[in-house]
Amino acid sequence: MARLSNLMLLLLLVWVVSAFTLLPISRGISVRTAGKWPYDHHDQSERTNAEKTALQQQMADKIDRLPGQPPVGFDQYSGYVTVDAFAGRALFYWLVEAWTDAPNKPLVLWLNGGPGCSSIAYGAAEELGPFLIDPDASTLYLNSYSWNSEANLLFLESPAGVGFSYTNTSSDLNNTGDASTAIDASRFLINWFERFPQYKNRPFYIAGESYAGHYVPQLAHVLHNHPVTKKHSLSHINLKGILLGNAELDNYADSAGQIDYWYHHAMISYETYLGIKKHCKWNHEYYTDDCYNLLGYAQAYEIGNIDLYSLYTPKCLNGSNSRVISRHKRRLKIPNQLEEPAYDPCSENYAEVYFNRPDVQKALHANTTGISYRWTACSSTLFALWQDTPDSVLWILKELIAAKLRVWVYSGDADGVVPVQGTRYSLNSLNLTIKSPWFPWYMPNQQVGGRSVEYEGLTFVTIRGAGHEVPLLHRGPSLVLFRSFLSGQSVPRQKRT
Ligand SMILES: *[C@@H]1O[C@H](CO)[C@@H](O)[C@H](O)[C@H]1NC(C)=O
Ligand SMILES: *[C@@H]1O[C@H](CO)[C@@H](O)[C@H](O)[C@H]1NC(C)=O
Ligand SMILES: *[C@@H]1O[C@H](CO)[C@@H](O)[C@H](O)[C@H]1NC(C)=O
Ligand SMILES: *[C@@H]1O[C@H](CO)[C@@H](O)[C@H](O)[C@H]1NC(C)=O
Ligand SMILES: *[C@@H]1O[C@H](CO)[C@@H](O)[C@H](O)[C@H]1NC(C)=O
Repeated sequence: MARLSNLMLLLLLVWVVSAFTLLPISRGISVRTAGKWPYDHHDQSERTNAEKTALQQQMADKIDRLPGQPPVGFDQYSGYVTVDAFAGRALFYWLVEAWTDAPNKPLVLWLNGGPGCSSIAYGAAEELGPFLIDPDASTLYLNSYSWNSEANLLFLESPAGVGFSYTNTSSDLNNTGDASTAIDASRFLINWFERFPQYKNRPFYIAGESYAGHYVPQLAHVLHNHPVTKKHSLSHINLKGILLGNAELDNYADSAGQIDYWYHHAMISYETYLGIKKHCKWNHEYYTDDCYNLLGYAQAYEIGNIDLYSLYTPKCLNGSNSRVISRHKRRLKIPNQLEEPAYDPCSENYAEVYFNRPDVQKALHANTTGISYRWTACSSTLFALWQDTPDSVLWILKELIAAKLRVWVYSGDADGVVPVQGTRYSLNSLNLTIKSPWFPWYMPNQQVGGRSVEYEGLTFVTIRGAGHEVPLLHRGPSLVLFRSFLSGQSVPRQKRT
């Protein structure tokens, strides 16, 4: 998710509740808003021509060098993939290949949440991508903990209306919700693999954070349940697993867990806690003004002006929406391999400057149609107009576990927005059999990185002290986690001495 202000968080709570009234919540992913699958192969000659065009398109998408970028030894591509030619809807992607041995490394799609937030603003530019942006938004510097040491990373701005992804049919934005987002993302993948045939059959993972706790399982579900008659267009998508960080999985568990977490982290008073537990049933039917008022009181008078996404780090005092650049943080120019670069709470502001630069957009092959509004880290329009959002995606996790996909869930344990406690309530309700009971895991320097519990079919990992955006806040531990996930091995256990 984005770093929304406390007020936005309140709006989010109101929105989550009011969203229940918009549409009946269906358990399945409906294709209603998104139409049919238009991308099947026809005859052989058409296919050959299409393949040629696709490869030309791949070459056209290759990035020379981004403004301010240090030299690197890997290739990058970015551009648009049409997901609905009739409506004129196209999604923007940025592929960052692995530092070494890219052809033998897996492909990982990364999604941020919101809904309405950009995977380029968060995932690529401040969390797990290879380049981080200087406060003056003129220079990029290397992230020595970038996840592209382990995998080829595909960042997607999803759905249309987020970042550089757009639609020529503005009413699309009024009809966007979870279902259409999953369908468009699957169409994106089908067409993207045609443009990048070297990635066909490559081990493929879908990862994401926050509201992507909805996007990731829903997309995996669509890929998994693709109609048999159309299977050939997906047969080369070798989906192996999913990775979810500080993920929204179940409204009831996440909300109840959030309040328990706030109380047990001394953020709210006992009286307010009891009141919220009494008046908030986290369910539309029982939602009351008293509940709303107590949540407002907690935020206005008890919690204080902190970064709810990262409880124990400083807040960016220039506000997440001000485009003003702050220079008050000192940062190592070249990150030291042994030491994490200092955390800069204002870093998303730099992305808003950098990605609006015309030279950056040109280098990225972005905004080629002259989008009528600025690039922003999150779309408040989409957020406000969001349609269907199911109560829970836990049933999809069950389905994916049954399908033997690798399912890992992780949680930075200092996040006040989608706290670890809510995720634990969600996982508890899955009733999975415990394979390896709760244990601490260790970083190479023998410090505890967090804890883990392994269930039959699902692994849960916490990252000690990290907030909502784990790869931003605890870069080293996040890379250890990512490596473990890709290898399918437990996070490192304590060495017995
Ligand atoms: C959207 O409209 C612009 C301007 O007419 C056009 O160049 C572009 O190709 C359209 N996008 C799609 C995805 O059709
Ligand atoms: C879409 O929503 C906006 C904001 O609520 C509204 O102004 C506009 O009329 C809507 N458009 C359509 C086609 O419904
Ligand atoms: C916020 O930005 C302004 C303008 O760049 C700057 O003068 C001020 O010092 C910044 N404030 C903080 C707390 O960083
Ligand atoms: C796209 O480019 C136009 C200028 O052609 C600019 O005004 C607009 O802010 C840009 N929008 C995005 C989303 O980059
Ligand atoms: C888990 O077990 C409880 C108690 O047996 C049951 O009420 C609940 O429906 C189960 N949940 C799931 C998701 O199977």
